[in-house]
Amino acid sequence: MAERWTAEDVPDLTGRLCVVTGGNSGLGLETARGLARRGATVVIACRDPGRARVALDDLRESAPAAEIDAMPLDLASLASIRAFAEAFLARHPRLDVLCNNAGVMALPYRETADGFEMQLGTNHLGHFALTGLLLPALLAAPGARVVNVSSSAHRAGRMRFDDLHGKRGYRKWPAYAQSKLANLLFTHELARRAAARGLDLTVAASHPGYAATNLQAASPRMSGSALGVRIMELGNRLFAQSAAMGALPTLYAATAPDVQSGDYFGPGGFIELWGHPTRVQPIRRARDPEAAERLWRVSEELTGVRFSALGA
Ligand SMILES: NC(=O)c1ccc[n+]([C@@H]2O[C@H](COP(=O)([O-])OP(=O)(O)OC[C@H]3O[C@@H](n4cnc5c(N)ncnc54)[C@H](OP(=O)(O)O)[C@@H]3O)[C@@H](O)[C@H]2O)c1
Repeated sequence: MAERWTAEDVPDLTGRLCVVTGGNSGLGLETARGLARRGATVVIACRDPGRARVALDDLRESAPAAEIDAMPLDLASLASIRAFAEAFLARHPRLDVLCNNAGVMALPYRETADGFEMQLGTNHLGHFALTGLLLPALLAAPGARVVNVSSSAHRAGRMRFDDLHGKRGYRKWPAYAQSKLANLLFTHELARRAAARGLDLTVAASHPGYAATNLQAASPRMSGSALGVRIMELGNRLFAQSAAMGALPTLYAATAPDVQSGDYFGPGGFIELWGHPTRVQPIRRARDPEAAERLWRVSEELTGVRFSALGA
């Protein structure tokens, strides 16, 4: 791995098709830009058509030669995920890279259209369903990759299998940490299942450290705390790295030639907050095979999506 790997080191991606969820904002936008600039065809999967259009204009300006498109996807609705997958598969028989990037953080209690707690529903269950539905296209592309964007917050995460949705007591930060731990458990279980079947699919994870995006202010904004919004914005200005830097671990996981299934990438600087991408280690709970298997079964039951190509 180059010591100071940058977006300039992304290999030529001509002929590759990449999907980035939440590609209209923050890290997703910068991930999409990094992929498109190296010649990939990029589909940004976004919940808001207006924000998607603004992002498309921006991306097309910075990568005029690339083919970039937007498709509607609301990860907080299984119907929307199914509609996205159906429309995508009708247009594209294969998919080289799926970046499961979109996310919400520390929201007051909310539910998805299907009654899941919003953070688990969006960050994990939505991406679980999306990946399962797009699996046929991923398996049709030689050397396809799935990258799940987690967070250092996974370190505080505990899977509350007896109360996954926080119905018996919801706390927004533990719920975020659980959803980000789930991203890593899903990474390892998908990697394990694909390898057991001998499938040509690399599954890796990334985290951006602390990057200035719209993520931090969303929670205080929803709670109506103007002071909270200002504090988060100030924190971003003083301590965060840019969204473009924060996207590098995802770009690395999505494109670098030496990535192995199960790898996890984050910034190499002070306590993984900033810096150029490097391999990092998740906590042991994120590699617990029993928890990974249990989460998989629960996720299949909740979403109704089964990865039939992977077998039982
Ligand atoms: N920034 C950090 O320091 C940091 C640290 C650790 C991990 N992360 C992770 O990085 C990922 C990207 O976050 P970010 O920092 O780039 O934040 P961001 O700027 O707020 O971007 C989040 C993206 O996710 C989209 N999204 C949210 N809910 C969605 C839904 N239901 N369906 C489809 N898209 C949805 C948002 O769409 P809208 O624009 O329509 O809201 C937006 O495009 C997240 O998974 C987050 O957990 C970020």
